Formats: sequence, structure tokens, C-alpha cells
Amino acid sequence: MCGIVGYVGDQPALEVVMQGLRRLEYRGYDSAGVAVLSPDGQLVRERKAGKLANLDKLVSATPMPGTLAIGHTRWATHGAPTDANAHPHLDCTNEVAVVHNGTIENYEVLVDGLERRGHVRRSETDTEVVAHLVEERFSAGPTAGDLPATVRSICRDLEGSFVLVISHRSEPDLVVAARRNLPLVVGLGEGENFVGSDVTAFIAHTRRARAVDQDQVVEVRRGGVRITDLDGVEVAGESYHVDWDTAAAEKGGYDFFMLKEIDEQPQAVRDTLGGRLREDGLLHLDELSMSDEDVRGIEQVFIVACGSSYHSGLLGKYAIERWCRLPVQVEMASEFRYRDPVLGRNTLVIAISQSGETADTLEAVRHARGQKAWVLAVTNTLGSTISRESDAALYTRAGPEVAVASTKAVIAQITAMYVVGLYLAQVRGTRDADEVRSHMRDLSELPDLIAEVLTRMEPVRALARELKDSPRVLFLGRHVGYPIALEGALKLKELAYVSAEGFPAGEIKHGPIALIEPGTPVVVIAPRHALQAKLINNVQEVRARGARTIVIATDGDDSVTPYADVVLRIPDTKSLLTPLLTILPLQVLSAEFARALGLDVDQPRNLAKSVTVE
Ligand code: F6R
Repeated sequence: MCGIVGYVGDQPALEVVMQGLRRLEYRGYDSAGVAVLSPDGQLVRERKAGKLANLDKLVSATPMPGTLAIGHTRWATHGAPTDANAHPHLDCTNEVAVVHNGTIENYEVLVDGLERRGHVRRSETDTEVVAHLVEERFSAGPTAGDLPATVRSICRDLEGSFVLVISHRSEPDLVVAARRNLPLVVGLGEGENFVGSDVTAFIAHTRRARAVDQDQVVEVRRGGVRITDLDGVEVAGESYHVDWDTAAAEKGGYDFFMLKEIDEQPQAVRDTLGGRLREDGLLHLDELSMSDEDVRGIEQVFIVACGSSYHSGLLGKYAIERWCRLPVQVEMASEFRYRDPVLGRNTLVIAISQSGETADTLEAVRHARGQKAWVLAVTNTLGSTISRESDAALYTRAGPEVAVASTKAVIAQITAMYVVGLYLAQVRGTRDADEVRSHMRDLSELPDLIAEVLTRMEPVRALARELKDSPRVLFLGRHVGYPIALEGALKLKELAYVSAEGFPAGEIKHGPIALIEPGTPVVVIAPRHALQAKLINNVQEVRARGARTIVIATDGDDSVTPYADVVLRIPDTKSLLTPLLTILPLQVLSAEFARALGLDVDQPRNLAKSVTVE
């Protein structure tokens, strides 16, 4: 939540920072702002409530020369999304500019002290205290005149989570950044350097990056970058190469990122499977970092995640229970640790997170590690906090996902969970080698099947346009169709602001059927599998009460057609793998539904892609 960028180099800094903010806008879009250090040594700030386009308009009318700048795109926590609360925030003397991602939990105490000492607060944000603290500690006392030391001393006094990027008008060759709990990456260039919430902030300029650890402070100068801990001791660290380029972070001719990302799903699955097969057709999963003996010793599995990643976790449960005969519990990360779950050395906890930064999932990881469980992160983001704080990390390889609503990352997570399930089964011997090989062959066929389904989306688009005025849509599924029903409903809610709910089809009689009125659209996920006969009964039940039934069915299967007002077809595959196909029409349905309503498909209201507050 919130995107931050800092730049020092020889290019016009405003353009570099605005370009970075455009890429980070998915992290929050309530307001945005920049501060540029002008050639005459003034911090020139512009900020505007609303999407980045508003700031863009403002800065294109204002010359802001300078080669050092910081910028911010906000998801409001403290203070409404107004111009006055937009970052950067300045101190009383306009010598310090601060952008911040996170929440400073003890800001009220700090504000009291600052106000008593004569500072005047000009916003309702927690962030502004940092600007005033820099003003005080840079002008007098033990850290006077030393901006990195000033920032280190302030970090020691802050409680909560933060990434701060700070510039001072007397430091024309220095941007200082600090992080606790939230993401911060350094971009290493030639004669220029960057900081950002993620690598997309600077990918147009450099693909060399360096991660920043907990409670570290970064000094970014034109000639180089120095990272220290809070005692000022320099820390060693390796840079890494980002192996995707700017095209991956651009729309490439699509109207929305989400539509492009939906079409990238065959590749996301292919890349997530890639390199994990041995020559003999079995799996290797060195990323799990567990000895075979430890894998055999696992007694229970917990999967923790939020939102769509939680739905991927539910599918992981079906796979692991079926193939490994291990008990699996799937928990919403926001509830997990408060329930005080019973974990121990023989517990495997799998934390699924696209961003690798979700606060609740991160806290669940910390809790699980505190209880001595072995934690595997399944994440799409190299070097993310969750991957770094887990015992092991398995990367999905979906590439950067920009649209707030997750699509290709989810399909990659489901794939990764199936790989984990098969690997555990292989090592524990609960499935013999031939069966593991055969499941892997089936999985390897999925990218082509996904591509095929994506060529069949025109009727789904037409359907979305037809349904766009429906106030409520229900989704039903059984077995692995149930998490997909939940996912279909979540996508429609978040994108089209329509009341949508997903249910296990068997539950509908226990209450939800009362929601059905003549014409209520009910989407039923009904590919050919063992429970289909029961599902057909459920379709009949809702149809008898006036529902308009939209059924996702397998090619050539006509058992559902008599009860369906609309049939959407998918090719045949093994029952456990059907989610990788049935999810596709639901993604397209929600995107087109939102589009038909004239909504912003990539940036739904009130949301942010990476939820870094609890
Ligand atoms: C829905 C969606 C969210 C995320 C959730 C978890 O489309 O994108 O529900 O799945 O916020 O995010 P990660 O996976 O980054 O932890």
C-alpha cells in the first residue's frame, strides 16, 4: 500500500519519478505527489488528491527542474485522501521532504512532543511527524548536519511499519531511505541510483537491484549506494538482476493490464512448472529446503493467505489431502495467529502471497516460525519480505502483475500448490512414481488448454454486457469448483461493485437460496467429475426458483444443458486440474462486467494491490 520512489542522478528527476509512480500506482491511488530539489536549492513540491493523472496535469503545467526527487502514490490510512494529506510532507522550514508507506503507531505521542516544542502540523497524517523530527535532529544535537544519522536516530523512535524516503535541501546529492516491515528495493544505475517500493519503479532505467533488510537505512547518491543498520554499521549485500523488462510492466496494446494479464496465463503456468521436472519425469523442489526425512516427518499442513491467494490455498488443500493423505487446514491469514493454532516442529506452514508483502500473511509467517513450524512462502515477488522471513521460498513465475485484481498470479499459485502436493506425495511415497509422472504430464498440458479456453471468450464478454445491470450474482461449485465459485464472486465484487457470493452448491438450500429472485444470474461451475450429478440437482433447484443459470461445462458433456440458460465450455482435463480452466471465464466475466459499467478495471475503488496494513 502506497508506492514510493526516490531518484538521484543526472536526468530530469521529475520525469523519472513520475514514470516510477505510474508503474506503482497499483499500490494506491487516493492521491499522489512529488518533491524536486531545484538547481537553486529549494524543495519544490506538488501534490494532488485523486489518481496520478491529476498530479500529472498539475506538474505538466509547472516547470520543476532538478535531478533529485522523491514521489509517492497514496492509499490513505491516517487522514482523508485530500491535497493536504498527500505526500510529500514538509517540515516547518520547507527544508525537509518525506514520503512514507506504512503506519507510525506512536505518532500521537510524537506529535504531542513536537507541538509542545513549537512545530506546526499541516496535515492529519502520521507521516508529517517524521519531517519535523528530521528538522529538529538535523539542525541540532548529536546527529546535526548528518542526514543518514538523523534518519537512523528517528527510526529507533518510531513504532509500526514504514518505508521512508527523505530529502533535505542542503543535501543535493543524497536521498535517504529506511525500511521496517514494508518493501523497499534499491535500483543501481551508472551515475544515478534509485529506491522504490518494487523494481517496476526503476525498471525503465536499470535491471540491477539490491534488496534492503529490516531496520536498514539506505544512502542513495549519484556515485553509489550505502546501506547501514540502525547503528550506522555498513551491511554487505549482493545485487541481483531483474530478469524481466519494461514490456512486462506495460499494457502492450491492451486497454487494461488485467486483460493483458489474463492472456498471459498460459505462460504463467508454463513458467511456474518450468525447471521443476527431473529428466525421469519426477519432481525436484530444492526450494523447499527440507531433507526427504523431514518431508516424511510432516504431520500436518497449514496454508495461510488472504483474498484470492486464500482461494489458491483451498485448492492446495484438495491436492495435498488427495495425493499425500496429510491433514491440511487453510486459514485466512488475518485470523490465523489470533486463534492460537496448534503448530510444532512437524508442521509445514505454506504462506501464499503474490506480493510477498501482505501484512496479515507476514504476521502469520512470524507466528508460525515462532512456534517452530517450517514455513514455505509461495510468492511471486523475488526478495519480498515474506520470502525472506520464511524458511524457504517457492517462486511462482507469473511476472509482474499490475492490475489490482489478481489473475495470472492466482493461476500460478494454484499450479505451484499442485507441484508442492505432488512433490510431497513423491517423497512420502503416497503416490507411486508413475502416478506422479502422469499428473505432471497432465499439468504440462494445461498451458495449451488455457490458451484454448482464452480463444473462446467472446460469448463471456457478450454475457457480461447483458448482465451488467444485475444487482446480485451467485456462484456455485462443489469440490474444487467451490474455491473457484468464491474466486468468481470476489472478482465480480471487487471489479464491478456488484453483490456477489460464492457457495458450495450443496449449501444453497440451507439459506442462500432465499436470495434467488426471477432472473437472478447463478453461475455454476460444473465440469465433468464425480459430483456432477449432485450439481445438476442444485442447478435444477435454483432454476425452479427463477434463477438464470450460467453453467461452465466440459466439451461434449450435455448432461447439464437441459438446465442451463447459458453454457460456457471448457476442454476436458482431470477433475483436480479443472480450476485452472474454470477460473478463466469468471475472470473475463468480471473484467467485462466492470468495463460495461464504465469502471476502471485495473484500479477498483478503495483497494490497493499490496495490503501492507493489518
Ligand atoms: C483479489 C486480490 C486480493 C489478493 C490479496 C492477497 O483479486 O488480488 O484478494 O489476493 O490481497 O494478496 P497477496 O497475494 O499479495 O498476499
